[in-house]
Amino acid sequence: MTRKPIMAGNWKMNLNHVEATGMVQKLAWTLADKEYDGSKSECVVVPPFTDLRTVQTLIDGERMPFILGAQNVSEHDSGAHTGEISADMLAKLQVTYVVVGHSERRQFHGETDELINTKAKKVIAAGMTPIICVGEGLDIRKEGTHVEYTLNQVRGTLAGLTAEQVAGLVIAYEPVWAIGTGEVATPADAQEVCGAIRAEVAALYDQPTADAVRIQYGGSVKSGNVAQIMAQPDVDGALVGGASLQPEEFAAIVRFYD
Ligand code: G3H
Repeated sequence: MTRKPIMAGNWKMNLNHVEATGMVQKLAWTLADKEYDGSKSECVVVPPFTDLRTVQTLIDGERMPFILGAQNVSEHDSGAHTGEISADMLAKLQVTYVVVGHSERRQFHGETDELINTKAKKVIAAGMTPIICVGEGLDIRKEGTHVEYTLNQVRGTLAGLTAEQVAGLVIAYEPVWAIGTGEVATPADAQEVCGAIRAEVAALYDQPTADAVRIQYGGSVKSGNVAQIMAQPDVDGALVGGASLQPEEFAAIVRFYD
C-alpha cells in the first residue's frame, strides 16, 4: 500500500490576509525554484479563516501546487451560532482538509473526543477530509501511559465512522509537550505511537483500512529533523506549526519527499 505523504503548514492565529499573500507567493517561488510539483507529496496550507479566500484565489489563479486546509469547523450546520464557521462554508471555499481537535482546541477551548468526532463527521459529510489530532501532554508522557491515552483519543474520535471513511482521513499524532517548545519527539517516540495508532485502526476496522490511513507527526518539525522522523515506517507526513511561517524552512520540509 502506497500512502501519499502529506505535509501541512498550520499557521495558527498568524498572518492577516495581506501578509498571507506574501507568504504563499514566497512559498510558491521557493518551491518552483526547486521544481516541486506536488506529485510525490501533498503540500497543505492551513491559514486562519480570514485568509482562506485570498489563499484559495492565489492557488487557483496562479496554479500553485498547494492544497487548502482550515484550522477548525463548527459542529453545527447553520443557524444561531455567532462566530462559528460551518463545514459547508469551508467546502464552498474549496477547502480540502480541516484540522479537528488540535491540542490547542482541546486545551484552551474544552474540545472533547465526542465533539471532535462530531466535527469530523461534519467535515466528511461536506466532502472534505478531516485531519484528526491526538496526542498526550507531558504529565501523561511522564506516567508512561501515553500510548493508551492516545489510542483512547483515536477510539473516541473515530467512533461511528466506516472503514471507508477512516481509510480516507488523516490522523495527526502531536505530543503536546513537543508543540512549539523546540522539544521534538525522537524518531522512536514518533514511531512508537504512530505504529500503535495504525495497529489500533487495524483492530477496530481491518488491515487494508490501517494500511490506507495516513498518520502525521507534529511537534517542532524543522528542516533539520524532518528526515529522521519521516523515515519511520508509520509516519506519513508532518503537521507543522512555527516552521510553516518561514517559507524557506517550510519549503525545505515539504521537499523532503522529492
Ligand atoms: O499544528 C501544528 C503543531 O501544533 C506543531 O506546532 O511545529 O510549532 O511545534 P510546532
